[in-house]
Amino acid sequence: MCGIIGITSNKPVSSSILNSLKKLEYRGYDSAGIATINDGLINEVKCQGRVDVLEKNISQINLLGNVGIGHVRWATHGIPSTINAHPHSTERISVVHNGIIENSVDLKKLLINKGHKFKSQTDTEVIVHLLVEYLKNNKLNESIIKTLNDLDGSFALGIIFKDMPELIIGARRGSPLAVGYGPNENYLGSDSYALKSMTNKITYLNDGEFCIIKKKDIDFFDSKGKKVNKKILHLSSSDQNYEKGEYKHFMAKEIDEQPITIKNCINEYIDKINNEINLHNFPWKKDEIKSIKLIGCGTAFHSCLVGKYWFEQLTNLDVQVDIASEFRYRKNKFNEDCLYIFISQSGETADTYAALNLCNKNNMKTCSIVNVVESSIARDSKFVLPIHCGPEIGVASTKAFLGQMLVIYLLCVKISFFKGDINKHKYIEKIKNLKLLSDLVNKTISAENKIQLICNTFADAKGSMFLGRGYSYPIALEGALKLKELAYIHAEGYPAGEMKHGPLALIEDGMPVVVIAPKDEHYKKTISNMQEVIARGAKVLLITNKEDNQVVSENIWQKIEIENIENDLYPFLVTIPLQKLAYYTALKKGYDIDKPRNLAKSVTVE
Ligand code: M6R
Repeated sequence: MCGIIGITSNKPVSSSILNSLKKLEYRGYDSAGIATINDGLINEVKCQGRVDVLEKNISQINLLGNVGIGHVRWATHGIPSTINAHPHSTERISVVHNGIIENSVDLKKLLINKGHKFKSQTDTEVIVHLLVEYLKNNKLNESIIKTLNDLDGSFALGIIFKDMPELIIGARRGSPLAVGYGPNENYLGSDSYALKSMTNKITYLNDGEFCIIKKKDIDFFDSKGKKVNKKILHLSSSDQNYEKGEYKHFMAKEIDEQPITIKNCINEYIDKINNEINLHNFPWKKDEIKSIKLIGCGTAFHSCLVGKYWFEQLTNLDVQVDIASEFRYRKNKFNEDCLYIFISQSGETADTYAALNLCNKNNMKTCSIVNVVESSIARDSKFVLPIHCGPEIGVASTKAFLGQMLVIYLLCVKISFFKGDINKHKYIEKIKNLKLLSDLVNKTISAENKIQLICNTFADAKGSMFLGRGYSYPIALEGALKLKELAYIHAEGYPAGEMKHGPLALIEDGMPVVVIAPKDEHYKKTISNMQEVIARGAKVLLITNKEDNQVVSENIWQKIEIENIENDLYPFLVTIPLQKLAYYTALKKGYDIDKPRNLAKSVTVE
């Protein structure tokens, strides 16, 4: 949520900042801006909308300067507009910010009373004026510390000063921030992705830290201003994964990548010769875990829900699932026998991170399942299980969802075996079936179905429903979420058995309803629920597997058949047509698939 970049160099920086902002756009695309220092002046260029608009504006002027900061915004305080775009500058100081300053209204009042004039409606602008105020009587470091101490809320900041034209200040509390090391230049970025095209040498700031970045050296300080030494990490992954290649959208590419990312993940965790799931260095003994709590947001929450069904099915553990933004503010009864599992693709989601920190503070066993292994959630968890999906750029989560489910399933099967809830024979059988998964996902993706035709009906619909039982219920929620976020169609996911308790009243003639009914133990019941909606005029799209001849059902509008697989693993296959349904419906409506309105990829504000 909001992307930050800063570069201090011995050559002009605006084109490198623009390039990085293009990469950061997945974090926010309401507005964009750059400020550089040149000839003793701060020069600021900002616009409402995307980075390509900013690029056009900059191409008409010659934005010089060897030190600069840039920003892409996901609006929190103040509408998306040029005036509210970052950087926010006075004549002497310019600031970019990711996060929310919760006491900005009070601070603004105080500053206005001291004669400061504000231009924007943002919470960020108070930071600029606080610094101006403190710099009147304090040196740089003291002014930074005093300013940061005045702020409530979360922030990652990049700051430049007209009177100190060689340096950039970076500071973080709550929101992630990294610095990068280059040849005769150094960088600041809200994530390593922004910096990867320039360097693979990265250091992450910890909460409360700030740094002074000059082109040849970087100094780090804790919240009290004491110098700290930081490790430099060397990132390995190549830049290629960040390109769309011949695909029109990242989402289409990421859907197609699922067989290979599943294969990679299975290769990482399964010892194929010994038929063994390896959770290298899993730190807890079998008797130390008596219950499981899975916590996440959005799509990650849906993978937690699928996990609950698996853990309940395969282990004797008590399993609970929670939405991170609820968990963090509830009066939780912490339980030292519980394994708290945090699921997050980005590893930066503010609510999930806060829930993790809460558990860490209470000395709980914390484990995270993430895609970005350098992320805050991964770094602060006691044990990390990466999903090995490679970068996911499309705002709608696709391959990461399958990756999260896969790692939860591997963990569940391993725990179930290691606690003696399943025997060796069953354990090996489950591993064998997992080895088939990548090929079956591939077949499901390549299967010829009428999805593009089916999308026409969804594109014209006012609303739709997604129904399922058992594992297919969280998948129904996920299918509905995808259609909402990409095609802007009201969609509700429901347990199929709940329809008659209220939502059936919504069904009207011609309403498209997706029924997810693989041939598992819920099949017949779901098919009965399907008949109830058909009888009330719904146009049903049934997603089932090839051998669905157990129950003959007439009046089904459309049917998509997936491959046959062990019951536990149907969630992986039934998800694919739902991803495609959302993709093609959004395509038909002409929407921006990789950057849906009002959203951003990495949700670093609560
Ligand atoms: O990075 P995370 O997995 O923590 O993100 C959680 C949600 O914000 C995310 O899954 C969101 O719901 C997706 N846009 C859904 O496609």
